[in-house]
Amino acid sequence: MDYFLEEGPKNPIKIQDNTFRDGHQSLLATRMSTEDMLPIAEKMDSVGFWAMEVWGGATFDTMHRFLGEDPFERVRTLKKYIKKTPLSMLLRGQNLVGYRNYADDVARLFVDKTCEAGVDIFRVFDALNDFRNLKTVVDRIKANGKHFQGTICYTLTERRMGGEVFNLEYYLSKAKELQDMGADTLCIKDMAGIMAPFDIAKLVTELKKVITIPLHLHTHYTSGMASMIYLEAIKMGVDIVDTCLAPFALRTSQPAVEPIVATLYGTVRDPGFDLNLLLDLGDYLETIAPKYRDYLSRHRMSVIDTSVLVHQVPGGMISNLVRQLKDAKALDRLPEVYDEVAITRKEFGTPPLVTPTSQIIGVQSVLNVLFGRYKIVTNEIKALAYGLYGKTPEPIDPEVQKKVLKGYKLGETPVTGRAADYLEPELEAARTKVGDLARDDYDLLICALYPTTGKQFLKWKYGLEERPPEVTPKTLEDVKKEDEAIAEAVKRLS
Ligand code: CO
Repeated sequence: MDYFLEEGPKNPIKIQDNTFRDGHQSLLATRMSTEDMLPIAEKMDSVGFWAMEVWGGATFDTMHRFLGEDPFERVRTLKKYIKKTPLSMLLRGQNLVGYRNYADDVARLFVDKTCEAGVDIFRVFDALNDFRNLKTVVDRIKANGKHFQGTICYTLTERRMGGEVFNLEYYLSKAKELQDMGADTLCIKDMAGIMAPFDIAKLVTELKKVITIPLHLHTHYTSGMASMIYLEAIKMGVDIVDTCLAPFALRTSQPAVEPIVATLYGTVRDPGFDLNLLLDLGDYLETIAPKYRDYLSRHRMSVIDTSVLVHQVPGGMISNLVRQLKDAKALDRLPEVYDEVAITRKEFGTPPLVTPTSQIIGVQSVLNVLFGRYKIVTNEIKALAYGLYGKTPEPIDPEVQKKVLKGYKLGETPVTGRAADYLEPELEAARTKVGDLARDDYDLLICALYPTTGKQFLKWKYGLEERPPEVTPKTLEDVKKEDEAIAEAVKRLS
């Protein structure tokens, strides 16, 4: 392919839009309501996206917990408006859309019902890149005739790709493993935004030599390199990239679609999108975005944070660390915690830092700094040491493992099998616990995944209890009043 992408066979880049999932999850604490999506859903469908990611990740949690929305209803509703474009979701392997491994019976029913609700493409990952944790859900995705996107979590131990663990060979062998599992496409998922453009150029080139399935790239703008990454990857023949509409792009979200369309205009990789249509869609988002502006991080002038390349801690994890330290009135110890995260992560076999490992390592690192190393040990870190999340990329430090497993309820000798093989079925117990409140399998799943908040949600859903006003999102009327008050205050200042 020539440098300017002007000659050669046409090979339009395919684009997945993530505005309705990762976009507002990254920027606005996952608070966007279905109501605000519907006015542009049909127009979004006409853009020509390869897929639209609209579900999974944190959406299931925030919808039932904070928005009072039935998560499954969102998929069904969007499906009525988005008829041509496949709907995609982010699935955390055996963790589904929660923070722990669920038993196989829950995992199977979850996938079946999600297919029925209307999800077409499943981007499936495991936080440890232990693909045994994908097996149960993949079996059901395939049985339902849906698209399995095998996903590798991209992480580093050095400034650039390489070193002992996460080097080129690691990614190539993981990719082959996923292809052999029957993946329809392969996704490289950079949740922290730490990829470097030339590493990705190399990775794409080498992956293309060993896999035959289409290659999909997911990254975040966090460190400021994402546009360069996409350009390099597109030149090297990546098949699909993830973007958001501009108002929900950049910062810790994905690159914006509009400049990519403009950049590739007239080249062999031109996606052929209507730029004016994209601008119209962005204009609409600008009209509803103020409702959510309180969730947007505004504590720094800079919209990028290159320090992520130094400490490797993803954005979502930083906010958790900050909250935990604030609660302990020890925010000044954040730099120590960053150092401790690196040490704890290494002791626990260098897992990628993504939900739920980011929380597990993060919380333990804070405890280590505040109270002394492993003086207080969380249940989650014990479970990780015991093998209940699967196999870590490197062996866990035997000394540390012994220390945290001392007196552990399940035993002091770690297990090595597939994580869910150690779990008893959970559905019947969940059914008994929720009783008549769950009217169908969808209701049951909400409670099987989130016993406390799920049950609370069903009480709201069926009008047995009224939702307290503090969980109702802000209205545009509220925003207007706020703006007037700010304008008044500014006037008094000047
Ligand atoms: Co993401």
